[in-house]
Amino acid sequence: MVSLRFLLCFLLFLASSVYATIVSHDGRAITIDGHRRVLLSGSIHYPRSTPEMWPDLIRKGKEGGLDAIETYVFWNAHEPTRRQYDFSGNLDLIRFLKTIQDEKLYGVLRIGPYVCAEWNYGGFPVWLHNMPDMEFRTTNKAFMNEMQNFTTMIVDMVKKEKLFASQGGPIILAQIENEYGNVIGSYGETGKAYIQWCANMAQSLDIGVPWIMCQQDDAPQPMLNTCNGYYCDNFEPNNAKTPKMWTENWTGWYKNWGGKNPHRTTEDVAFAVARFFQKGGTFQNYYMYHGGTNFDRTSGGPYITTSYDYDAPIDEFGNLNQPKYGHLKQLHDILHSMEKTLTYGNVSTIDFGNFASATIYKTEERSSCFFGNVNETSDATINFQGETYVVPTWSVSILPDCKTEVYNTAKVCLFCYIQLLRIAINTQTSVMVKKPNEAEDEPSNLKWSWRPENMDNFLLKGKGESTMRQLFDQKIVSNDQSDYLWYMTTLNLKEEDPVLGKNMSLRINSTAHVLHAFVNGKHVENGKFHYVFEQEAKFNPGDNVISLLSITVGLPNYGAFFENVPAGITGPVFIIGRNGDETIVKDLSAHKWSYKTDLRGFENQLFSSESPSKWSGDSVPFNRTMTWYKTTFKAPLGSEPVVVDLLGLGKGTAWINGNNIGRYWPAFLSTEDGCSAECNYRGAYYAEKCQTNCGEPTQRWYHIPRSFLNPKGDNKLVLFEEIGGNPSFVNFQTIGVGGVCANVYEKNVLELSCDGRPISAIKFASFGNPRGNCGSFEKGTCEASKDVVDILTAECVGKEKCSVNVSTEKFGAPECNVATRSLAVEALC
Ligand code: GAL
Repeated sequence: MVSLRFLLCFLLFLASSVYATIVSHDGRAITIDGHRRVLLSGSIHYPRSTPEMWPDLIRKGKEGGLDAIETYVFWNAHEPTRRQYDFSGNLDLIRFLKTIQDEKLYGVLRIGPYVCAEWNYGGFPVWLHNMPDMEFRTTNKAFMNEMQNFTTMIVDMVKKEKLFASQGGPIILAQIENEYGNVIGSYGETGKAYIQWCANMAQSLDIGVPWIMCQQDDAPQPMLNTCNGYYCDNFEPNNAKTPKMWTENWTGWYKNWGGKNPHRTTEDVAFAVARFFQKGGTFQNYYMYHGGTNFDRTSGGPYITTSYDYDAPIDEFGNLNQPKYGHLKQLHDILHSMEKTLTYGNVSTIDFGNFASATIYKTEERSSCFFGNVNETSDATINFQGETYVVPTWSVSILPDCKTEVYNTAKVCLFCYIQLLRIAINTQTSVMVKKPNEAEDEPSNLKWSWRPENMDNFLLKGKGESTMRQLFDQKIVSNDQSDYLWYMTTLNLKEEDPVLGKNMSLRINSTAHVLHAFVNGKHVENGKFHYVFEQEAKFNPGDNVISLLSITVGLPNYGAFFENVPAGITGPVFIIGRNGDETIVKDLSAHKWSYKTDLRGFENQLFSSESPSKWSGDSVPFNRTMTWYKTTFKAPLGSEPVVVDLLGLGKGTAWINGNNIGRYWPAFLSTEDGCSAECNYRGAYYAEKCQTNCGEPTQRWYHIPRSFLNPKGDNKLVLFEEIGGNPSFVNFQTIGVGGVCANVYEKNVLELSCDGRPISAIKFASFGNPRGNCGSFEKGTCEASKDVVDILTAECVGKEKCSVNVSTEKFGAPECNVATRSLAVEALC
């Protein structure tokens, strides 16, 4: 009995000691429980997915070879009103951290609480901006008090759950502020004092693990300054005791309304990572590893899209973005296999000229080598210890024993067995496809009902909730409680007023992200951001009601003093009359303006299932502004991620069963120029380098997390359409692996997998010297004697996975002789 109890205690001890108790650092690396570590980490922001998605996303991170998951903490989401907190649903930070812990991964907690992150207002609550004598990110008492209050609260919550590594939990690092070094110059001496205060404040919270400050090359000790960017190989921390750490390796980029889909090649991401480790890096984090979705009003801006896919290794919906995910997984496994040599070994370098170099890490037991070629146009031939190696343009080769190249960043291997390390990795290329909703007989034949947004009070009476003789910034009036703010004034014109005439207009200096102007109930125009808007308008003798609906599309999130960038209609507003040569201008800015935040339909929660409002199923209008639409649908079968296709709609907001899935704006097309079919990974990447989707709706498909759906029964989609659109094309689809490709050399094993679904057909197969890429494979000059498609159909079709030896015995010897024979396959799922 005693021994059983002892055994139990011992097992419990083992279970709880998965995590370190001591995390420290020396000049070389982060040290966990006395061991120097090579740490690979990936950003997943909890509010950009749902708690139901977290375990799968985090597991995929682990399987992808990550040691740690990094997240920011989103202040304005947690404290929407001062001292009123929300940690429910996808804001359940503790549950997210515990999910990381359940997977036995480490956590990196970037509290900020300024986070940037393409998140609304960079994470700052707007009530903070509206406090008296407030100035952000400087030694302002009120600001420091609020920042400290929130930061302390988060730290206390995390401590209470024993989630810091010092308490046996997963969190090994925490961050204070975010990239302040990029803007510090604009804050003068107070900027320096502020960063010192941040450091002292963070340190005083006594979390027992190191604090980091990213992009802060004057980070006060003991803060660790880290690097953010596409490449950080040349980064040197400001202190010899600080390991070389990279907090944001941008795996792609974010998208604006009107922008294109950015892609960063797999080869270049891998190159940047390998180069970083070649040059002494020890902690690297992908920003983003899973980007996810900006639900509701969380996107920053202005004009950041609802999708935050980022071209990350896991796509917006949680599917693997191949071959990026797999190629990086191989790299992680190899770097981990060299952990000891990289973190304890002596380092020497050989410069071969022409941007080629070798770095050798050597311990008594072993040497490991990186051969780097940073030349953008030519391959390098390196002679090393009697052998010759070719390192392709803009790539790094890794030789864990300094003899055998097991990895090259530019060789995206579709199936590799790494002999030396005995790791088999299947980086098959997956082709994602959208499939119609099979739960509906006629998936695109939805039955719609509608109702108008009730604006009478505002358009005809100009009556809001408060009045002021001044035009105010939208943030000040509405505290960002809504995207919408009405600015209304009534202008009485006497019959003899010289401004009256045929040729009149309304001119507005606007910083509304979108503006709708009405005169006496008539819609005059709408327009976008920072412009002087002038439109012909008809004014009458007597009372004229001018109603301006200002709309925000995400508040700014980056730059010095971004919090003060105006939003809304800050004026002036004029009416202009022209009488022959004479122009009469009336400035209405100091008029009595009536304000009203939000739209009626939002206040009355027309999107919620309980809403008692009347909807009509008759003559559903198209292209009508300010219109609500509603329909029901069946949830698509299966478990693949779901999207709604909103092609045909203009701009607005969409809800599924009352859950706000974000702003939609398919009417905003991206510009025609700047896309390319081919993308050259060679040479430094920049956000506009490799773009697709020119001339198409910026975002047509919107993610509906499965947990928002009722798998049986009916589901409700509600749309609020602002600018006019046609809902009759709306349909629901699932996104999954539609096909997989592999290209396997002779004497290896082909492995195909449709991620849990059966392989339905072999679309292409050739054993010999096939050419091309996934989706465009072609037979070469040489072809096996047997029917390869038939053989693979027999072996694979109907199965979820199959493995086949690639050999002449299996497929018959090709008639011609080529040095390396391979089998290229494209299978449909
Ligand atoms: C960085 C910032 C991140 C994110 C990124 C771009 O400057 O720290 O929060 O905004 O840029 O995606």
